[in-house]
Amino acid sequence: MNASHRFREESLVTVIDLDNISLYSFEARKMDNKQTKKLLDWYYANRRILPWREDPTPYHVWLSEIMLQQTRVEAVKPYYARFLERCPTIQDLANLPEETCLKLWEGLGYYSRARNLQKAAKIIVSDHGGELPKTQEQLSSLPGIGEYTQKAILAIAFQQPFVAVDGNLLRVFARLEAKRFSAITPALKKEAEAYFASSFPLERPGDFNQALMDLGELVCLPNGDPLCERCPFASFCKAKKENDPSSYPGKKTKNQKKSEDIDVFLLYQNGKYAVHRRDDSGLLAGLFEFPNMEKRTTPEERERFLNDKGLTVIEESPLDEARHIFTHLIWKMKGYRIEVSGNCDEYSFLTPEQIKNDCSIPSAFRHYLDQLK
Ligand code: ADE
Repeated sequence: MNASHRFREESLVTVIDLDNISLYSFEARKMDNKQTKKLLDWYYANRRILPWREDPTPYHVWLSEIMLQQTRVEAVKPYYARFLERCPTIQDLANLPEETCLKLWEGLGYYSRARNLQKAAKIIVSDHGGELPKTQEQLSSLPGIGEYTQKAILAIAFQQPFVAVDGNLLRVFARLEAKRFSAITPALKKEAEAYFASSFPLERPGDFNQALMDLGELVCLPNGDPLCERCPFASFCKAKKENDPSSYPGKKTKNQKKSEDIDVFLLYQNGKYAVHRRDDSGLLAGLFEFPNMEKRTTPEERERFLNDKGLTVIEESPLDEARHIFTHLIWKMKGYRIEVSGNCDEYSFLTPEQIKNDCSIPSAFRHYLDQLK
């Protein structure tokens, strides 16, 4: 072993916490550097140009990783740009009123991400001098930064040797090793992490991670046939050798989503519509909604519901149905436009412009939001 090799091996061990040493040790190496080099060469020729990659400060990487959770890259791009325009620094984010933060997030979904981002920004300003900390332990103490995000930040923003295993990496791993699985478990993620970590290019962990993400997104496609002829790993991919790469990792066991009936009421009087702020905890916490009942209702039930709130029905007309799919839940909605009279403390009556400009209405209600007039 030459001197530079020995140095690489030693520094590899010193930056990793003790539990993980074996994962990253050279003995565990399953791919050699030639393969890593092929991957990085492929990446530099084919990588996606994404705004957070072009200026990967810790804040930019953190913000993009939070936005990218459960969300497609194309959907994130405009939100990322708008957010940074309003909050160029972590300090700006910490000082942003919560309502404005939620408004900037409107339509992106999973709103607890926006709240946690702000809570974390305040802690970063008060406890870390406004700079994102660079250890897994410190990052894990910040709200909203789970294990995947910690590793992505450490690798991409701080060039530390971590592998952040997402669905793309798991699929690439399944095919390279011809491994089938029907559910994603922590043990499976560890196995994939160990596999990729064993081929770690010390100098460029950020590019290494993002190269695997892009390989999964652009070549090792999830649906239909992967584009093996473009793959830098084609020569040693076990699934390709079997001539059946698309059958890996196999069919996922579908999680049965619960469905709920929701009747949504566009209550109006004098050109203003009623909105209501949801509870501070639970689904869509703290966001605005149109008054609703969590069931299919009869005209009598709607009338009684509104009478109990001090409102009287003047006229009612049905609106069409809409659906919203959450991670574990489907809302089957049916709408009613209802003219009412009377006063009700629970609801704010606002003009359509005020609702659209000032209230964070989640996408679940978009179909009805578009029907305010
Ligand atoms: N998904 C999560 N992190 C990503 C990144 N850095 N680039 C592209 N897609 C991602």
